[in-house]
Amino acid sequence: MKKPAIIAIEKITKTFSSNQPPAVNNVSFTIDRGDLLGLLGPSGCGKTTLLRIIAGFERPSKGTIELAGKVVTGYNLWLPPEQRQTGMVFQDYALFPHLTVGENIAFGLKTKKRRFSKKQIKERICELLSLIGLSGVEGRYPHELSGGQQQRIALARALAPQPPLILLDEPLSNLDVQVRQRLRHEIRRILKATETSAIFVTHDREEALAISDKIGVMNFGNLEQIGTPEEIYTQPASRFVAEFVTQANFLPAVRQGSLWDTEIGKLDINTVAAVNSCDTGELMLPQEDIILQPDEMGKVVILDRQFLGREYRYCVETASGIRLHARTAINNQFPVGERVNLSVSKSCKIFPSLDRSA
Ligand SMILES: Nc1ncnc2c1ncn2[C@@H]1O[C@H](COP(=O)(O)OP(=O)(O)OP(=O)(O)O)[C@@H](O)[C@H]1O
Ligand SMILES: [Mg+2]
Repeated sequence: MKKPAIIAIEKITKTFSSNQPPAVNNVSFTIDRGDLLGLLGPSGCGKTTLLRIIAGFERPSKGTIELAGKVVTGYNLWLPPEQRQTGMVFQDYALFPHLTVGENIAFGLKTKKRRFSKKQIKERICELLSLIGLSGVEGRYPHELSGGQQQRIALARALAPQPPLILLDEPLSNLDVQVRQRLRHEIRRILKATETSAIFVTHDREEALAISDKIGVMNFGNLEQIGTPEEIYTQPASRFVAEFVTQANFLPAVRQGSLWDTEIGKLDINTVAAVNSCDTGELMLPQEDIILQPDEMGKVVILDRQFLGREYRYCVETASGIRLHARTAINNQFPVGERVNLSVSKSCKIFPSLDRSA
């Protein structure tokens, strides 16, 4: 049976000024109850604006939002944040510095319409601190905790009133890489344990792929694609999604019989048209599907090699100056400056050529 939606967004548009394109453009999607949506996109694409519209901090120019079965934004209707059941976690922790951890967590409970007794509040603080793995710190002040600990407290504070939807705006971007990786799984565990639905904004593709049930990819205010991480990665709906999420290479190609003629040679590969079937276009070559073969007369030259622990990432250049990236196992070593040939291990998608004259 299909899970009911926790939030249904319909044609949301936000234009800040008439001489600028919309910050959010005609965006529609739903999130199933209990799911975590990763909202991914480059800086300035409208992620924060969309979250602020959902939370009620920003009024959209058009569109409707239904939250937990209730319309909160619509024609002539706009409920303020305190009348929406959402919790928000920001990039910069935003804990109240003059309140203890316990008082910070209790903050949302005291402003709720429902009155909680002192005993209930104390129990809820203990329960949440145990959930986030920080039991016993309720008497400390935020500056007495690390950045990662503060961010877990911010999550506990947002969860305290048991909102059905939590909005997280780049909650890990101020943390170092190791804390970040640990905490993103921790956040997912906590959200699943409390059956809380969430929208998690990030511009880190790995982070989105690692923790999301679904990913929404935004570009210039548009939601270009929404799907499971696997769908987004293997079936990108647009060239932008392919480049941003999979970091794939693109190589101009012309069909010649059963082969594709390219600068790296004639490729005998199956192609899948990404948009329309075409005889010329750009092949999408995922980094992990490119194979390097040593050849003194090879068509590309190795410009750079990065050691990534389990693999190397090579940057090679064609005669016309197109740079391609490939990942190979570490037993496949090629020195910088050497010539190699490239082959492709799988079927490829072909996208229409980019108009480079613009
Ligand atoms: N209050 C505002 N007034 C005018 N323009 C705004 C306002 N808020 C955001 N914008 C513009 O809307 C666009 C989207 O901004 P937004 O903050 O939503 O991007 P973002 O995807 O969150 O970016 P980042 O990853 O850098 O946080 C930007 O061009 C921004 O300059
Ligand atoms: Mg932002």
